[in-house]
Amino acid sequence: MTAKPAADSDAALKQVWGAEKYEKNARFVSDMTSEVVNWLAPKPGERILDLGCGDGALTEKLVAAGAVVTGADNSEALLSAARKRGLDVHFKDGQALDYGPEFDAVFSNAALHWMTKAEDVVKGVARALKKSGRFVAEFGGHGNVAAIVTALRATAIRYGKDPALAAGWFYPTPAEYRALLEANGFSVERIGLFPRPTPLPTGMRGWLSTFRESYFEQWPETQREQILSELETLLAPALRDKAGNWTADYVRLRVAAVRE
Ligand code: BEZ
Repeated sequence: MTAKPAADSDAALKQVWGAEKYEKNARFVSDMTSEVVNWLAPKPGERILDLGCGDGALTEKLVAAGAVVTGADNSEALLSAARKRGLDVHFKDGQALDYGPEFDAVFSNAALHWMTKAEDVVKGVARALKKSGRFVAEFGGHGNVAAIVTALRATAIRYGKDPALAAGWFYPTPAEYRALLEANGFSVERIGLFPRPTPLPTGMRGWLSTFRESYFEQWPETQREQILSELETLLAPALRDKAGNWTADYVRLRVAAVRE
């Protein structure tokens, strides 16, 4: 069957965040973060911007370390959950940050792969940092969720749907991201790719229905259950163990850089 034309990257990344759905299906995003927080090493009293703070679960940990933290996100639903934790958070497009040089550090976990205008992000982070300020981030790197995306693409092509709706995230290699940072006034201290097999507490269905809604909207509602089952069948040999537990093939890019 002929595949439909590629969606633009905005359509591929259309994502509506619901705080409850996120809590149920994606809490692991903030739970598996100790190493990137170690790289940040937040200090009492310093000002930190948490870019893509989501519902604030991790922002709270930075506050607990004594830092003065500002959160920024582009989901009102998640910001409202963060405000319930008493956090100082603001609606911002991470691709158009308008902060001056006021932060000692910019931190970001599991957010930058949603922001495909990566150069605009890096420029905004550079503007927000004081001289010698740190930029510490972890997000999806090259090869992230490769098996899942391949299964989604193959299924879309088989049904004559748009394979571009399978993905569209920004998953750079360390070399690409280092070059982007260096071109924008950063000196990279540490950068690497880390495979991080990630258990999915609500299975592949929970993950797909949380993160790939726009992909499934290509099918009538009555057919979506069948498509989900076919995807599970394709992915089970790689990502489901004998006891029925699912693990996603996450690969993280972790970076620590300094504003020159
Ligand atoms: C990630 O954290 O790598 C991720 C989360 C949702 C969709 C895709 C990737």
